[in-house]
Amino acid sequence: RGAVSRVLDAFRAGDPVLIHDFDDREGETDIVYPAGAVRPADVARMRNDAGGLVCVALPSDVAETLSLPFMDDVLDHPAATSQDLAYDSRSSFSFTVNHRDSFTGITDSDRAMTISRLAPVAEATRAGEYDAADFGGEFRAPGHVHLLRGAPNLLEDRQGHTELGLALADEASLPPAVVVCEMLDDESGAALSKSAARDYAARHDLAFVDGDLLLDGLV
Ligand code: 5RP
Ligand code: ZN
Ligand code: CA
Ligand code: ZN
Repeated sequence: RGAVSRVLDAFRAGDPVLIHDFDDREGETDIVYPAGAVRPADVARMRNDAGGLVCVALPSDVAETLSLPFMDDVLDHPAATSQDLAYDSRSSFSFTVNHRDSFTGITDSDRAMTISRLAPVAEATRAGEYDAADFGGEFRAPGHVHLLRGAPNLLEDRQGHTELGLALADEASLPPAVVVCEMLDDESGAALSKSAARDYAARHDLAFVDGDLLLDGLV
């Protein structure tokens, strides 16, 4: 449980952790933060060092209460189906949001505001103190932060970064909202290799964990 407890400690401290899913799934490493810990410099790290899409995962019950659907369930368009993915049975994408106090929504400070507010929002929603109307009062869609919706039974149902991150937040007793961003290779544009992701973690003193280990430690 070495790598898993290191990841848990880092996560509780609000530090980013690196999670590689599985060689036979996406084969990607995401930088993952508890959403409540994200400041503008963390958004800068995600866009400069990771380079993927900045997304916030919320659990199924919270998404349900807040009326945050799967994108492909609500778009009435022939392109709106994700049942034919090569690496999983469906995508976890919901829609995009900006905090209403943001300006364009894309700057580091705007995105940090949108992301970090989602943590107390998720917690208050679970406590029955926040609903879809409150959400609409505080966020507007479309925006510049992608929302992801976790599978109902998390890792029992799906083993994406969405569920790995949310399960980690549960285990760390943090609010159920995590931000994930894929690490890409600046030279090739491909997903950053697992060994290069490990090197990045070592250079920046960050915790790295493999999905298999995390599954063993969390399920
Ligand atoms: C959104 C994605 C990423 O892969 C992210 O890790 C969440 O997706 P998943 O749960 O499928 O891993 O596609 O940028
Ligand atoms: Zn993906
Ligand atoms: Ca870069
Ligand atoms: Zn992923």
